[in-house]
Amino acid sequence: GKVAVLMGGHSAEREVSLMSGGGVLKALQSRGVDAHAFDPAQRDLSELRADGFQRCFIALHGRFGEDGTVQGALELLGIPYTGSGVMASAISIDKVMTKRVWLAEGLPTPKYQLLRRGGYTREQVLQVPDELGLPVIVKPAREGSSIGVAKVQGYSEMTAAVEAASLLDADVLCEQFIAGDEVTCPVLGSGADAIALPVIRIVAPEGNYDYNNKYFTDDTKYLVPCGLPAGEEEAIQGLVLKAYRVLGCRGWGRLDVMIDAQTRKPYLLEINTSPGMTSHSLVPMSARAAGLSYEDLCLQLLASAAL
Ligand code: DAL
Ligand code: MG
Repeated sequence: GKVAVLMGGHSAEREVSLMSGGGVLKALQSRGVDAHAFDPAQRDLSELRADGFQRCFIALHGRFGEDGTVQGALELLGIPYTGSGVMASAISIDKVMTKRVWLAEGLPTPKYQLLRRGGYTREQVLQVPDELGLPVIVKPAREGSSIGVAKVQGYSEMTAAVEAASLLDADVLCEQFIAGDEVTCPVLGSGADAIALPVIRIVAPEGNYDYNNKYFTDDTKYLVPCGLPAGEEEAIQGLVLKAYRVLGCRGWGRLDVMIDAQTRKPYLLEINTSPGMTSHSLVPMSARAAGLSYEDLCLQLLASAAL
């Protein structure tokens, strides 16, 4: 039956989603799937039914796509879709809620403070580094692709970083910086059947894996095999599987992790429930290292579409 690749959408990651969706669409069509692009920013999701779409591949990122809203609409329309359901998507888009779940389950994630727009004073902002040390990572709670993220090196930069993040989200996450190795690990499948793919180690110019170094430069190095000391890759795969399962994720996801250079302890940063599928993206890179081509990955994800 007809498949809609949902791409574009209304979020700050629209441009990334169009790149992800373009890749997925081409891959599915090359394998004979009757797939079509569908941009929820241009058309109402309710038209999916009238147009005879029987399944959706969600290649949307960020809000109104990765956050449970589109998933809820598809539930109401009765159209199976790839990836996590409503609750896991809604929790996972929110880095603070995600950390609360992980902490409640005893899983390691960097220390943090939440600043809610209108709910803090200038003094409280300046006290954050006293609690978390410097540098501090400041992020909008519900964004992706490093949009609005700052690495604050001194007290004088704190206010501007929080103000910039709060333009994107009323909730601003201030997080302890873990100096060490930056890695990511995809998960495929659901529940007890979920598996972790190879870990990728990311070496970005000056440690700055920002929007530009994610998608538009070729200066970032991706190491797969990751070359971590013996046992660390397996430990990270075990950790991300637990982190994925406790959130109730389904289909696929990608977890970003920092390994403390001194203690070698891994810290979970976040989970992406609709990971990038661009030419520079990490799930396809890791899948390829495991012997799964981009096209086969797309077919496997589509086959896992559920309600
Ligand atoms: N938020 C981007 C799309 C990612 O995690 O791949
Ligand atoms: Mg993310």
